Amino acid sequence: MKVAIFVSGRGSNLKAILDSHELKNLVKVEAVLSDKPDCAAFNIANQYNIKTYTVGEGEKKLKSDEVVAVLNELNIELIILAGYLKLIPSELIDNFENRIINIHPALLPSFGGKGMYGMNVHRAVFNSSAKVSGATVHIVNKLYDNGKIIAQQCVDISDVKSPEEIAERVLEIEHSILPAVVKAFAENKIKFDENRVVIVK
Ligand code: GRF
Repeated sequence: MKVAIFVSGRGSNLKAILDSHELKNLVKVEAVLSDKPDCAAFNIANQYNIKTYTVGEGEKKLKSDEVVAVLNELNIELIILAGYLKLIPSELIDNFENRIINIHPALLPSFGGKGMYGMNVHRAVFNSSAKVSGATVHIVNKLYDNGKIIAQQCVDISDVKSPEEIAERVLEIEHSILPAVVKAFAENKIKFDENRVVIVK
């Protein structure tokens, strides 16, 4: 299965996918895209000889319709958002219905939505005194963090002393739950019922 990964930052989820033994013979990362051409994730893509594309407005940046054309030319079957912070344009959502997924560092629908990314999420979780947090992989639609949930995994945070501790525990979960969902897509094990998304065994 050919995938494209949208990033904006460190790229640890990108690397988790690239290093996943389970995905080795199942998935090929054909493109890494970002609105931030100087992000560390692009360095990772370059190390793995994966083509990078800068998206957004301005010179040498792919606009929404151009992104759709490039991804179709590459025969992309699944788009993965791994730290990408911009809203995905409608053209892309319409072209890749139910084939765009996002990893969110909390248990949606709690602690999600516009502005809820990175440490903002973990600070909100910490300040709420929540006893569990976790990660969510969901379908991307036209709203932030709003699409149908595909997978979640939680972690006990009742003993944490800082938002950074939450971030650390959740990131570990992200690096396993995201490759697991990508594998399920590659094996055609994601089923869409009326209201729910199920990973069949
Ligand atoms: C992750 O915490 C992810 O949940 C969120 O953005 C962060 C990306 O981290 N969407 P990285 O760039 O994959 O290290």
